[in-house]
Amino acid sequence: MSTLTNKRIILGVSGSIAAYKSPDIVRRLQDLGAEVRVILTTGGREFVSERSLQTVSKNKVHDNLWDSEAELSMGHIELAKWADLIIIAPASANTIAKLCHGKADDLLSTVILAASCSVMVAPSMNQQMYASLAMKDNLQLLQKRGVRIIDPGFGEQACGDIGEGRLAEPSEIARKISEIFQNSLLGGKRVLITIGGTVEAIDPVRFLSNHSSGKMGMALAYASIQAGAETTLVIGSISVDVENRAKTIFVTSANEMHEAVMKNIHDQDLFISCAAVADYRPTKVSPNKIKKNSSQKTIELVANKDILSDVCKLKNKPICIGFAAETENYLNNANQKLKNKNCDAIILNDVSNSKIGLKSDENEVYFITSNGSDKINKNTKQIVAEKIINKIVKEFF
Ligand SMILES: Cc1cc2nc3c(=O)[nH]c(=O)nc-3n(C[C@H](O)[C@H](O)[C@H](O)COP(=O)(O)O)c2cc1C
Repeated sequence: MSTLTNKRIILGVSGSIAAYKSPDIVRRLQDLGAEVRVILTTGGREFVSERSLQTVSKNKVHDNLWDSEAELSMGHIELAKWADLIIIAPASANTIAKLCHGKADDLLSTVILAASCSVMVAPSMNQQMYASLAMKDNLQLLQKRGVRIIDPGFGEQACGDIGEGRLAEPSEIARKISEIFQNSLLGGKRVLITIGGTVEAIDPVRFLSNHSSGKMGMALAYASIQAGAETTLVIGSISVDVENRAKTIFVTSANEMHEAVMKNIHDQDLFISCAAVADYRPTKVSPNKIKKNSSQKTIELVANKDILSDVCKLKNKPICIGFAAETENYLNNANQKLKNKNCDAIILNDVSNSKIGLKSDENEVYFITSNGSDKINKNTKQIVAEKIINKIVKEFF
């Protein structure tokens, strides 16, 4: 569906100094579920080893148009037909110029000429080369032909120059690629997701919070957008990049999160409560920093409002999905939460295991409804998020 599950991608790596970043691009694409094959140009080989790319991609690296064995079965045509998308990253000035002229003097240019799938190009070169009229004309021509360009960034370059021409970040490249495979599973729907931890002040410098990074919530936001939903995020304390295609509301405390959710919930079709909201907050917030020698050694707590329960009580409530982060009695506790809060599904994760759950890049969850529970096996949070959205669509829309 929305990410790159089952998508077959050819990564062309050409002769730019930034080719050393190409194994990271392979990993980012794999994290989104893609199978990746690499075509390395002669120039690319000067900057990154075939062995690295072969190891990371788990596939033979293709680099030779004149490979007798591969060409017994017309390897270049086979590769062109295999791909759902070809991305050249980094794309050297030379390779870009070759594409413009329809040249076919090496494996990468020949495969591109023979391919009918989408082609993307991420230029990477010295700022003066990038600013040249030839480069501008070439990129415009490619764009006219339907090739998508991933613009380079601005900054310090390997040669010491400062300017535009740095290869876009691998995460940005993977994201731009996955945007091409958007679907409409949640087309026309509105989705509100809470993300991250809340921060409950003790005094002006101290607070109570938790280890939530926002990775799972942001992965859900991404999957929701990829599925075509108009997505609103209520974001607490996080340590991940914010999905810039969503409407975002930033909050600090559980109270603020409650208020932001209640203000924005009324026209939503789906509410996913993924934030790690503090159950309690200090009864009093000291206006001044509490001194070391203060007589106050105990912090008295008061319960916060339950956001998920309150949304579930609304007359025209959206479909409500809660998260249960448990460390023991997992399924019992999650089923209890499903009943107590009267929500439509609970996503259960075991946060006692440091390899999944809070802060980690992977997760393994159970999707629990009144009809039973379904395990979503361990995978990257992005793939798990995509599977959760799939299940929600199947079950409720
Ligand atoms: C040290 C060094 C760094 C280079 N860096 C780049 C670069 O970042 N971008 C670029 O377009 N060309 C760069 N070049 C030039 C290309 O490698 C050269 O044009 C080569 O023919 C490209 O081959 P290819 O497009 O077939 O991979 C560099 C060359 C050298 C020697």
